[in-house]
Amino acid sequence: MTARPPYHVAITDDWDQSEMIGEYDAATRGVAYEPGGYLRASTAEGVQEVLDTRYRDLDLPLTLVTVDPDALRADGVQIEPAPPHGARIRSVLMRDGGAAVIAATPLQRVDGRWLSPLPETSDAASDAVAAPDPHVIAHPNVLYVGTPAYLVTSVNPDGTANLAAASSSWALGDMLVLGIESDGQTALNMAERSGIVVNFPSPPLWPALVRLSRLTGRDPVPEAKADRYRHEKDKFAAAGLTPQPSDLVAAPRVAECLLQFEAVVRRMTPGVAGSYFMVEAEVVRVHADRSIVRAGTDEIEPTAWHPLVYAFRHFFDRGAEVGWLPSSRMAPRAPVFE
Ligand SMILES: Cc1cc2nc3c(=O)[nH]c(=O)nc-3n(C[C@H](O)[C@H](O)[C@H](O)COP(=O)(O)O)c2cc1C
Repeated sequence: MTARPPYHVAITDDWDQSEMIGEYDAATRGVAYEPGGYLRASTAEGVQEVLDTRYRDLDLPLTLVTVDPDALRADGVQIEPAPPHGARIRSVLMRDGGAAVIAATPLQRVDGRWLSPLPETSDAASDAVAAPDPHVIAHPNVLYVGTPAYLVTSVNPDGTANLAAASSSWALGDMLVLGIESDGQTALNMAERSGIVVNFPSPPLWPALVRLSRLTGRDPVPEAKADRYRHEKDKFAAAGLTPQPSDLVAAPRVAECLLQFEAVVRRMTPGVAGSYFMVEAEVVRVHADRSIVRAGTDEIEPTAWHPLVYAFRHFFDRGAEVGWLPSSRMAPRAPVFE
């Protein structure tokens, strides 16, 4: 369980001043650090009680500060429970560059009573302040959590086909959004010739992606890639794959892929980091191998389709089916769960 944020009630003047000073150290009601050197805090359900018992008579603007317990713990700061609803944070709050403050919200006083904006929560909330977070701060080398890998074909300036391995994509309606590196031949081709095919390989085809992984259609190879990549004109042959003519676009399909989307690039938006494009491509035709189509329909049989899942640079088949949406037209019945 991730610890829920503890809350601290601050006098707005103190809070604002701490922004200038760079740190905040009022334990409660403007009183600097209580014995032992800690800030007082409360769970969501304790905030109203704090306002009623400690601040009722105070007619100065107040601010509710939401603290991130995970960020504090990552900095080695102790948060001790003070039942029933309290907590003690053994630290000052850093205001300049510190990550521990999630939000600072002005509090409202109505008919002489300060009101907590927080919903009443369950008793579990008070335990949660003290509950150890089972997560640790991780620094993975890449952020590929597990998406279907695909093979994108595009048309070179001389009319031949280029083929590249990729995995960054999502779909909404008929639009696919592909994350495509700007220094590849694929991006150059997409910008000039909009017809492409996004082909989805099945798990046994993973070696083809490895064969393609150090190849580029660019000649010469861009400087940034020169130490790792080599130019390859015929990537289909290099990957051991077979081109198959498309119906509506000039780029060929990959015959070995059971699912092939012919698509037309509608827009290429440069990414913030500059090294990639967000490519919006409209799918104009879907080809599906008969083995993954529900008999008597033209729809994909979800239980028959196995995408090649690419997660943290490893390839996987998908696991067993665990459920479905009520909106699935392929499901045998409504899903049953507690
Ligand atoms: C498994 C895998 C996933 C990849 N994912 C992407 C991706 O999502 N976007 C991208 O632009 N390149 C991706 N690449 C890298 C491209 O395949 C690589 O840059 C290639 O050289 C592009 O070929 P091109 O220059 O001929 O277009 C991936 C490579 C592999 C092996």
